[in-house]
Amino acid sequence: MVDSAMAPQRARCLLVTGGAGFIGGNFVQHWAERHPHDTLVVLDALTYAGNLATIQPLVDRGAVAFVHGDITDAALVSALLADRAIDTIVHFAAESHVDRSIADPGAFVHTNIVGTLTLLVAARAAWCRDGAWTSGVRFHHVSTDEVFGSLAPNEAPFRETTPYAPNSPYAASKAGADHLVRAWVHTYGLPATISNCSNNYGPYHFPEKLIPLLIVNALHGKPLPVYGDGQQVRDWLYVTDHCRAIDLILDRGEEGRTYTVGGRAEHANLDIVHLVCSLIDARFADDPALTQRYPDCPAARGAPCRSLVSHVTDRAGHDRRYAIDPTRIAAELGFEPTETLATGLSRTVDWYLANEAWWRPVMDGSYRDWISQQYGDRESVS
Ligand SMILES: NC(=O)c1ccc[n+]([C@@H]2O[C@H](COP(=O)([O-])OP(=O)(O)OC[C@H]3O[C@@H](n4cnc5c(N)ncnc54)[C@H](O)[C@@H]3O)[C@@H](O)[C@H]2O)c1
Repeated sequence: MVDSAMAPQRARCLLVTGGAGFIGGNFVQHWAERHPHDTLVVLDALTYAGNLATIQPLVDRGAVAFVHGDITDAALVSALLADRAIDTIVHFAAESHVDRSIADPGAFVHTNIVGTLTLLVAARAAWCRDGAWTSGVRFHHVSTDEVFGSLAPNEAPFRETTPYAPNSPYAASKAGADHLVRAWVHTYGLPATISNCSNNYGPYHFPEKLIPLLIVNALHGKPLPVYGDGQQVRDWLYVTDHCRAIDLILDRGEEGRTYTVGGRAEHANLDIVHLVCSLIDARFADDPALTQRYPDCPAARGAPCRSLVSHVTDRAGHDRRYAIDPTRIAAELGFEPTETLATGLSRTVDWYLANEAWWRPVMDGSYRDWISQQYGDRESVS
């Protein structure tokens, strides 16, 4: 008798939307390494947040097929599902920055809601005949804990049964997408799963988000902006742990089920700022070459990076606390994070120090110029 854990898994053909973004790019690397016999197709519009450099080595060696395009392009999505024989959609593509959603909510509704609708319609057309779904297909929708709103200090963490209460245009657009996926499961029987994850951090994170922004600004002696009192609490998860969680859900998650995913690592933003500063201070103390590379960093002259902290006006409607109860995914799928906040942040700081070639072109605009030459401006391409 064959042990099911030893049985060879069937080869899958994945369409990863947003696979040039932060989590999507890490997921593509994770999947290519763990499942080398599967086929990976990335569909990404390369907005300001996408960075092809994250997956370029995999594209160059033929492990990933990259398609530049928009998830709201129904004809393109349908053609991809049919031509590439896609059996699994892992849907990361989104507008994801809360501040941008406050300034331009329409773009969030378009990509996050209309884009998800486009994928759902195409998936049903490709995978469902006369009400019967092709065996082995799966739609996994990657969502956020922000759909649940804000917690009071002593309130129980979010779990799968927590009512939705999105507060920002970003959270509302993700909530709308989640509800569409749920409706496709309920109405049409779509074999789908949803994960609502807490704040991710780690390599390949666009430097407008808190942790990479802190690292890059500190290295250049620029202010470290902290919203309000900095006491907003988030539950932090190292990005490769999130990728492992999605892998488990795709492998063993129950169709129609939602999983909340978190790191059991609640910390106030100001604590994160101080931790990152201490890590950079320590790296400079250990490695004199960093002083040559980043002479404007306070640590280069023996001063603490936390001297750069600058409290700025709080974000409108800023949620105070998010926290995840990961009991279901731990009990049903055996998921536990491998990184603590201390080990994950340490890895992250080291990654940014070792990979200036990834983030420098993003910061100085040369990456955008290159993308425009290759693909034209996003607005004119989609
Ligand atoms: N970052 C987090 O902490 C976090 C936590 C929980 C859930 N999520 C969710 O995970 C997913 C990925 O988040 P991220 O932080 O990697 O985002 P990101 O902004 O880094 O990446 C988004 C990617 O989607 C692409 N994209 C945007 N609009 C597109 C469109 N219309 N068509 C095709 N591609 C498009 C972008 O080019 C980019 O590569 C999102 O759905 C987000 O809501 C993020």
